[in-house]
Amino acid sequence: MNIIVTGASKGLGRAIVQSFAEKGNHQFYLTARNQQTLADAVDHLKNKYIHSTFYSSAHDLSTQAGASSFASWCSKQTTPDILINNVGTYWEGHFEKETSEQLTRMMNNNFYSAYYVTQGIVPNMIAHQSGRIFNILSIACKNPFPNASSYIISKFAFMGLSQVLRQELATHHISVTDIFPGQFDSASWDGIEKQDTQLMSPIDIAEQIVLIATRSQHIKTDEVVLSYF
Ligand SMILES: NC(=O)c1ccc[n+]([C@@H]2O[C@H](COP(=O)([O-])OP(=O)(O)OC[C@H]3O[C@@H](n4cnc5c(N)ncnc54)[C@H](OP(=O)(O)O)[C@@H]3O)[C@@H](O)[C@H]2O)c1
Repeated sequence: MNIIVTGASKGLGRAIVQSFAEKGNHQFYLTARNQQTLADAVDHLKNKYIHSTFYSSAHDLSTQAGASSFASWCSKQTTPDILINNVGTYWEGHFEKETSEQLTRMMNNNFYSAYYVTQGIVPNMIAHQSGRIFNILSIACKNPFPNASSYIISKFAFMGLSQVLRQELATHHISVTDIFPGQFDSASWDGIEKQDTQLMSPIDIAEQIVLIATRSQHIKTDEVVLSYF
């Protein structure tokens, strides 16, 4: 399969690539912002999964130019079977204390990134009347919590986009699956004081995505909520 993953240099994005490559031989189209971290991740993947092919191009998806240029780089070389919109960052903050910069940054990174990447990729999927899109949201869309207001607002906007896409793309045989993970172990938590909560492994979440992506095209999964048990 031709698989596009955003935010693939670490955390969940990288775990998703690994989990797909463990189960089959695929062509991956990967991006992240930092060129060196992405190149290091891709070198590691190439050495470990020699039967898959890995293409990468660094872009800052928080800008419209970066997101659109990644989408057009993908569209020039592949007909995607799967798009995984994984890019996202967490930022704590109470509503009354937040700056407008905080909301803008969260919206750019967590919502507009997926908006413009998807807008660039979807015409290719529509032309082939097939495809699967996975949007990485957050359990905060199901159970919002205090002290993350801009983050949660941006994820709700992304959930709205996802619901719109599901309605509009169904007639083109393109499925859209929302993934709502609870807290999992990743660099997202660097420098943030965590509650005393158990963290899931990103690989456990990635394996659920692979399971859904490799099911019959006739079975659609709209939502998956994952939390530590
Ligand atoms: N960790 C959790 O507990 C948790 C819980 C619920 C939902 N989520 C969601 O899960 C997703 C993955 O989170 P994670 O914890 O795995 O994150 P992570 O470890 O911080 O990794 C984020 C990835 O996205 C890339 N990235 C970030 N901003 C980017 C940008 N503007 N342009 C291009 N690439 C960018 C990073 O590369 P660079 O560093 O090079 O930019 C990195 O590859 C996010 O959407 C997050 O909101 C996380």
